[in-house]
Order: sequence, then C-alpha cells, then structure tokens
Amino acid sequence: MQTLSPFVIHITAECFPIAKVGGLADVAGALPKYQSLERCSSKLIMPYYDNSYIKDKKVEVVFEHSLHLGSTTYTYQVLLLDPCYLGFEVYLVKIKDLTDRKEIYGCADDVARFTAFQVAATQFINSSEKLPDIIHCHDHHTGLVPFFTKYAFEFEKLKDIPTIITIHNAQYQGYFGYDKLYYLPDFDHKHIGLLDWYGSINPLACAIKCAWKVTTVSPSYMNELQYKANHLEALLMSESQKCTGILNGIDTQLWNPATDKMLVTNYDQKNISNGKQVNKQWLCEEFDLNPDLPLVSFIGRFVYEKGSDLLAESISYLYDKMGLEVNILVLGSGDVQTTQSLEDIKTAYKGKYSLYVGYNEKLAHRIYAGSDFLLMPSRVEPCGLNQMYSLRYGTFPIVHHVGGLKDTIFNIDMQQVKQSGVDKINGNGIVFHEVTSWNIAQAVSKAIHFYHHTYWFTAKREQLLAIDHSWPRSAKDYIDCYKEYL
Ligand code: GLC
Repeated sequence: MQTLSPFVIHITAECFPIAKVGGLADVAGALPKYQSLERCSSKLIMPYYDNSYIKDKKVEVVFEHSLHLGSTTYTYQVLLLDPCYLGFEVYLVKIKDLTDRKEIYGCADDVARFTAFQVAATQFINSSEKLPDIIHCHDHHTGLVPFFTKYAFEFEKLKDIPTIITIHNAQYQGYFGYDKLYYLPDFDHKHIGLLDWYGSINPLACAIKCAWKVTTVSPSYMNELQYKANHLEALLMSESQKCTGILNGIDTQLWNPATDKMLVTNYDQKNISNGKQVNKQWLCEEFDLNPDLPLVSFIGRFVYEKGSDLLAESISYLYDKMGLEVNILVLGSGDVQTTQSLEDIKTAYKGKYSLYVGYNEKLAHRIYAGSDFLLMPSRVEPCGLNQMYSLRYGTFPIVHHVGGLKDTIFNIDMQQVKQSGVDKINGNGIVFHEVTSWNIAQAVSKAIHFYHHTYWFTAKREQLLAIDHSWPRSAKDYIDCYKEYL
C-alpha cells in the first residue's frame, strides 16, 4: 500500500541559516520546510560546525556514539536543533576533532571529515526506531551514503530504503585515492567497483551508480550533463533512465520585498518604483555611486564557473570602449586573481564602479532590491537562485543561456518593445550566448538600452514581481519522485 505521507531524511553539508557557502544551503534550508507543508514529514542531518549561528541556539543531545576511520576512533554526538528555528527537525552531527570547526569546506582532512560525517549520519539513521521511507542525499559530501546503506555490513537494516542523490553541482565530485579506502566501514568487496571512477574513489559517481534516483536542480542542466559533466558524461548517459531534472524554488517567505527586514524600505507591485529607488539611493551612498544612473550588480562566488574572471575586462569595455553611463557593483569573494583584477580597476572607475569582497547576506538582499539589473555570466549554472531572487525583487537578470538560467530567464526582444504593448512583450531578462568579456559587455549595453525605454522598463518591472518561483511546485515534484518507490 502507498504511504500517503512519506518520511524523508535529507543529508547535506550546508543549510541556511546554519551554515552557508552557496545555493545548496538555501535549498536545504527551504525544501524540508515546504515538503512538510505538503504532508511529507521531512528532517535533515548535517555536520555541526562551530560557528556563531549555533552558539546561542537551543539544542538537545539525542544520540552519542563512536565510529572508526581505520584504527582511529572518533566519538560524536547528534544534537537536535529546536524546530522553532527552521520549522523542521535538524540534526547536527558533532564529531570531536573533525566537524566541530568553523570551516565548512577547504580543510586538508576534508575526506576524513566528510567520510566520518556520512558514517555517523548513517549510523544515526540505523539506530532510529522509525526508519525513513526515503534517504535524500545532496552533492558529493553525502554521495557514499547510498553505497553504505546497500553494501556496508553494519547497515543491513537500511538496504531496502530508497536513496536519492540530488546533484547541485557536478563539477565537484570529492574523489580521493584508494589509500583512504580504510576510512570506509566494512562492506561487501564484491561491490568495490561501484566506488570507482577513473581509478579513484569518487563519491558523486558512486552515488549516481547506487542511488535509486538521480536528480539535478533544473531540466536543462540534466540535459547538459549528458555531454558536459566533468568526466561523468558516460556514467550519466548510461544511468539516464533514473535521472530527472527538478527546478529549484525559492523561499518566498524569506525573500519577499514587502516584508524583508534587511531592506532599507519595503515595497510591493504598487510602490515598486519608489521602493527600489530608496534602496538604490542607500547603495549609491554606501558605495559612492551615482543614483541617477542605472545600476548593474553581480553577486556570487569568484569561481571560473560563474564567469567572474571576465568581469574586470567586461567592465573596462563598458566604460572605455562603449562609453556607457552605468554603475557597476560587485559583491563576492573567492579566487585571488579575480579579486585582484576587480580591485585594480577601482581607481580608474571611481564613482561608477564599486566592489565589496566577502559574503554579506544583508547587503545581498539590498543589492537585489536596489539594482536595476543583476548580471550572471555563469559558464555553468545547475539552477541558479540569484536570478529568481532578482525577479522577485523587480530586478532584471542579464544571463548566459545555460543550465537553470535557460529554464527561468527569457530574452526581452527590443524589436517587440518598440512595436507592442507591455503585455505583449515576452521575456523577463537579457539573455546572451557564449561567455566572453565582449558578449557580457554587449548584453549590459542592451540592458541599458532597455532601461532608457522608461515606460516599458517600469511597466515590465512591475510584472516581474508576480512571477512564481515559489517552492510548493518543486517540493511536490520531489514528493512525486519519492512516491515512485513507496
Ligand atoms: C549550486 C549550483 C547552483 C544551484 C545551487 C542550489 O550552488 O551552482 O546553480 O542553484 O547549487 O541547487
């Protein structure tokens, strides 16, 4: 008989607001909440990090145990974070000397940390009185779990529980050498080949082979992975019958310009022009920009995939070659060379270009609200949430036609703008093909051209706020996926 209200446990390395590096955290912090509203009891397990969020929160120790990585024994506790904070149960795995640090990723012993986390999370599930109907893993940090539940002797009890892996980013696969094979719990060696991809233990590849279902965070990214997946193409092709793309949603309670406490002033469709202007004014004062010019912003990590390495050159084209009257504001951090290139151009474009290096959630919200356009020149974008936040705040995205950006942003045709009424103008952003500095600059120039068609620009902007990218649809799609196995 079908279970009408499935019980799912998500396992993830990040979850907003507890610990965030990228969009995975936003999804992990929202999906369980929206699934619970759809009669799917949803809980989440993640590592305990020693950060400021957790310091003053109510937690309760619900499990204590130990695990072995080879001959080293680690003791750990599982702490239940009071559901009053996130609206669902979050279990934090605190492994002494491994996870209880400030860093989420980037430690020399990450393989040990995340292998231990996965062992502990699986042991915790194994010890529960009520086993889940589904175990839902996210990205490579949890990719060994589908293998453990099937083939590790100590998890025999879990072997029939369907596992799902959601790939938020196939660039990162977490592979490591066979010298660390002894980190893994004892398993049936007949199946050792399932761990392997091109001679390494590859947790993401292993999850694609072992999980019952593989999902990615947009349909277009799923298609692209068949021919561009950082060496996993053949594997994804051969497993394609269990693969599907489900577009992420955004948490529209958290991301709502009418109630967002981080904004300088709130607004909705009725007072959008004034609301955005007040937020823009604040940004311009803060960053010494000209409030009378259109404002184009970039928010994101400085990594190759996001195209951030081309920003400095594109900006110089905009000002020096095209002579555009525009403000550019960049918020992000990451690659040192990119940061340096963006620092280097500050003096030359003082008063119309500014940079904030770091991660600042409040500032990000204000940028979505106060900008006219948000630039996303991503080379790879599995889903992308920023373009959806941007639409929600009445800011037109300027995007490369790739991955989830293909599924959410449609080009505004300037010919149509000139000939038609507002209702007839299709599109919700500016789309360009092929990421080069020149193409980025040209797309910004098109955006500014559109900005100067004030009547259409303001009318169309009002409509952006009504575009629905809320979670309920995606949450239901995931539940439908689970139901195939119940
Ligand atoms: C990763 C992807 C991004 C996606 C997010 C949430 O950060 O790079 O495109 O939106 O995960 O799934």
